Parts: sequence; C-alpha cells; structure tokens
Amino acid sequence: MRGQAFEKGRGCHVESDPPESYTRREDILSARPGDTAIFEGSITDLQQRLAARGYIADTGLAVSLFLALRLGRPLFLEGQAGVGKTALASAIAEALETDLIRLQCYEGLDITHAAYEWDYARQMLELRILEASGAIDRSAARRELYSEAFLIKRPLLQAIDPARTRPAVLLIDEIDRADEEFEGYLLELLAEFQMTIPELGTVRATEPPLVILTSNRTRDVHDALKRRCLYQWIDYPSFDKELAIVARRAPRASAHLARQITAVVHELRAAELYKAPGVSETLDWVAALTALDRDAPDLESLDATLGVALKASEDIEAVRGERLAGILARAASR
Ligand SMILES: Nc1ncnc2c1ncn2[C@@H]1O[C@H](COP(=O)(O)OP(=O)(O)OP(=O)(O)O)[C@@H](O)[C@H]1O
Ligand SMILES: [Mg+2]
Repeated sequence: MRGQAFEKGRGCHVESDPPESYTRREDILSARPGDTAIFEGSITDLQQRLAARGYIADTGLAVSLFLALRLGRPLFLEGQAGVGKTALASAIAEALETDLIRLQCYEGLDITHAAYEWDYARQMLELRILEASGAIDRSAARRELYSEAFLIKRPLLQAIDPARTRPAVLLIDEIDRADEEFEGYLLELLAEFQMTIPELGTVRATEPPLVILTSNRTRDVHDALKRRCLYQWIDYPSFDKELAIVARRAPRASAHLARQITAVVHELRAAELYKAPGVSETLDWVAALTALDRDAPDLESLDATLGVALKASEDIEAVRGERLAGILARAASR
C-alpha cells in the first residue's frame, strides 16, 4: 500500500510515497531486528582487548570508546598526525571480531564513491536483453533494473546494510579533507543509521555500526556533525605510554634504544618545529636504527636518519648539529 511503512520489525521502511517513476523494493531492506550486543564488558576489558591487539588506549580514550559502544553514538577523533586515530578503528574492529569498513575522505568525494551507485552498464545490458526477449512490461522492468542486484554498495551503505548480522566498525577517515557538503550528507546517516535511496526507499541498519570519524583539523568540521558524535582529542602520548606503544609495535628493538629514541622524539616535539613527529615516526625511527644494528642512538646515526622522523627540510636544518647533540644528551639522561 502506498505511503505506508513496511512491516514493523523488518528493520526498515519507506518514509514517504516514492514518486511514480520510482520502484519500492523490500528485498534489500528486509532484515531481522538487531539482537547482537557487540560489547558487554567494562572499560578495563576494552583496554585489555585493545592492548591484546597492540593498541594502547589511555583511560580517557577508552571511556569515550566505551560510551560510543554503549550509547550507539559515533566517535569523533581529532588529533595531530600519527597519534593513533586510524589505528584505533582497526584495533577495535579486531577486538570486537567484526568487519572494518573504511571510507577514506578526499576533496571531491561524492555519494557515488561513499554511499552507493547504480551499475548503469549492467542495467543497460539487462535492458537490451529484456528488449530482445520482447513483451516488455515497463513497470516490471523498472522494478527489476532498480533492484539490489544492480546496486553497487559503497562503504556507507555496506555499513548499514540490514543483511549484516553483526555491527561493523565504520571508519570515516580524515573527514576534514572532504567537502563541507559531504558532511551534510552524513547527518542523516549518523543520527538515524539510515540512508534514503530515492529509487528504493530508506535503508536502515538493524545492526548499527560503531562509527569512528577522524580529523587532523586542517579545517573546522561543522558543529551539526560534531553534535551527533562523542568527541575525543588524542594528544601526543606521554613518555610512558609511547614507550609501551614502541614495546608492543617494535618488540625486536633493544629496550635501551626504544627508550632513547622515545625521549629524543619527546624533545623534538617540544622544539617548536614546523611539523612535530608523531608516534609513527617514533616507530619508524626505532625500526630504522634497529635495521642499522644500533642498540643505542649516537649522534652520527641520528643525524643520518633524521629524515625518518622529520619530514620538513626546514626542521631538519634547524635541528641538525649542535642542537641535535643537546637533544641527545638530554634524552640520554632520562
Ligand atoms: N595508542 C597506540 N597504540 C598502538 N599503536 C599506536 C598508538 N598510537 C599510534 N600508534 C601507531 O602509530 C602509527 C600511526 O598511527 P595512525 O596511522 O593511526 O595515526 P593517525 O592519527 O591516524 O595519523 P594521520 O592523522 O597521519 O592519519 C601506527 O603504526 C599505529 O599503530
Ligand atoms: Mg590516520
């Protein structure tokens, strides 16, 4: 019946009358009501599960993640480059033993790459076949051509697909790189875990995903989007936390080298450089010096490998020489 919600409890419905030219289809939309509690443990359990996957989360981050899971709210992570925003999404997906669906944002990202697209080539082919077989029923053909079989599901639709039996982790990475209009498109998805496809109706998740958005703050993300999310700033880690990360991520490195390089990186972060090194640079530096068979950093090897940690020539020039010697001496006394 037109204008009426689909069966209650099927997890989805068409909100309003589709225009005459559209075809409503229940097959893509049909699903069981959700009953999967994806995480029932405590905050400490969550931290331990992440740690078992090599991700060290301090209490503030673990509480935010726990609440995102419990309240079913998206988690918006902001922080400098290389502080573990993207890695958190992978780690939590592994910890929850579920799929990680990743949408990498970029300028010009549009719905056809983010949400869904009709497979026009296959639709045309199918149309030819229908024409060749004669006796085309126009409305049946329309229904057929705009059915799930011809829909290419991109990450956002994959994440709310009612066919999912377990909530996925949806990572919307580097949202600040996408255009502002794209943020507007996300509002319905993040508030209701649903998406309207004009030709099909409204698709609503029965197992809503855990959504993690990240931003490097290259521009401000709109308040309307942030309001729908829990917010967490991820700062550079403390010395002890970073040492724990290095121990987990670079277990083959000598403990002394790990400690010294972590200390050098902390000194560099305090040095007001154009681009401070992130955790990835610490890990890369430890790996580089380990590959050079160093158990402890010396001025010569640090100087030769500065480009592993610093990615701006101004910074390398500013640090090289006496300043680096001073940094190494202070790091050694840690
Ligand atoms: N808390 C952490 N526990 C374990 N590994 C970490 C942690 N923080 C960062 N890392 C490691 O540091 C590296 C960089 O992390 P990641 O790519 O997630 O940073 P990011 O914040 O997404 O950076 P960018 O903004 O450049 O994308 C990864 O190898 C990641 O595993
Ligand atoms: Mg990232």
